[in-house]
Amino acid sequence: MDSLNRGEGAAARGPLVALDRLPDGAFAEVEAVIEGDAESLVLCRDGDAVRAWLNICPHAGRRLDWAPGQFLKSREGLLVCAAHGASFQLSDGVCVAGPCRGEALRPVPVDVREGAVWLAAAK
Ligand code: FES
Repeated sequence: MDSLNRGEGAAARGPLVALDRLPDGAFAEVEAVIEGDAESLVLCRDGDAVRAWLNICPHAGRRLDWAPGQFLKSREGLLVCAAHGASFQLSDGVCVAGPCRGEALRPVPVDVREGAVWLAAAK
């Protein structure tokens, strides 16, 4: 893994990942420092937009990926937690099926600019 893909640059306020490394509809895992803590994030590209959430399932606090950066996507286009199958809408991160139905992933604000994904500046 190179430093850009792992988001190590985020600690120095660099980009999380180059946009062309994130195919449309694909997921990626990056690490970033948020409020002083190193966190794993799941990114999902939707055209020119990218959504990001903490890579933590609201059901039992496990990572969503079955191996680093390897996420499950259902035929319906839902992000599926590898631990117990909770399924999340990509539009808003809400769980629509599985053991934590009605709960939601914790969103992380990101911006797309200069051909890359960045943590949004704190307001
Ligand atoms: S930890 Fe994700 S479904 Fe249980």
